[in-house]
Amino acid sequence: MLDTYAAKICCADLYSSELARLILGDSLHPGGLRATNRLGRVMGLQPGWRVLDLACGMGTSATALSRVFRCRVTGLELGADAAVTSRRRALEQPIPANVDFVRGDAELPPFREGVFDAVLIECATSLFPDKAAAMAECRRLLKPGGVLGISDVTVEPGSLPPELDGTVGMMLCLTDALSAEGYRALLEQAEFITDEPEDLSAEVLTLLADLRAKLALGQSLGLIDTELAVDLTTAAPELLDRVERLVESGKIGYWLYVGRTPV
Ligand SMILES: C[S@@+](CC[C@H](N)C(=O)[O-])C[C@H]1O[C@@H](n2cnc3c(N)ncnc32)[C@H](O)[C@@H]1O
Repeated sequence: MLDTYAAKICCADLYSSELARLILGDSLHPGGLRATNRLGRVMGLQPGWRVLDLACGMGTSATALSRVFRCRVTGLELGADAAVTSRRRALEQPIPANVDFVRGDAELPPFREGVFDAVLIECATSLFPDKAAAMAECRRLLKPGGVLGISDVTVEPGSLPPELDGTVGMMLCLTDALSAEGYRALLEQAEFITDEPEDLSAEVLTLLADLRAKLALGQSLGLIDTELAVDLTTAAPELLDRVERLVESGKIGYWLYVGRTPV
């Protein structure tokens, strides 16, 4: 139990690291806010809704959704630095956003049942060791007729090469990702009524091109100086080529899912 929690914290710290910020930016998923707005639209977010962003990272999506859809958004994040940064940034906004941020574990969210109209999880379900527990919690937190939106990296079974099974694979959410059908099955096992999933895999190709440019820039400016960063960036160009080929062949993707609870 402790080992699993320690692994979760380590993963959360990795996403809060300077290196992750440098190469991924603030929106820690393919498609950035474009994909977030798409998710909000297909979920049908409405003004005044209470929305939970589970594993909200730097709070970028939570803040954007609160503005675009005029919802009240709570972000839950395990990483201590990310939770603090999200809170600070929300306070620094020139026009206040209707958001708040809490530190906690998505598998044990500290909220009463039936308080949210919608829950979203972007690029994080793949990281949860107990995905079924997280889905059960989403069911518990949603009101009847509530909506769950998930976007995540997909990996078809047996297609991840061993060199993508380490830190780089984890940062790209590949290591414990499900297949495109697997996420839909996960939602249905938790008794969500699902819509047809949407394929946003082209966003991964855009993200890879972006990563290549940022790594090259980071190296030329001498910003990549820790041992881990040097190891990662030395191996990165070949790994990114590998991921690109897997995306093009449909083995790796990025899909968007919506599930609803019965009214
Ligand atoms: C790829 S990032 C995505 C962040 C954010 N959803 C976004 O799209 O910008 C994954 C995030 O999930 C968080 N995370 C991983 N496991 C978690 C857990 N069990 N509970 C809460 N947050 C978790 C990590 O700390 C990290 O911030």
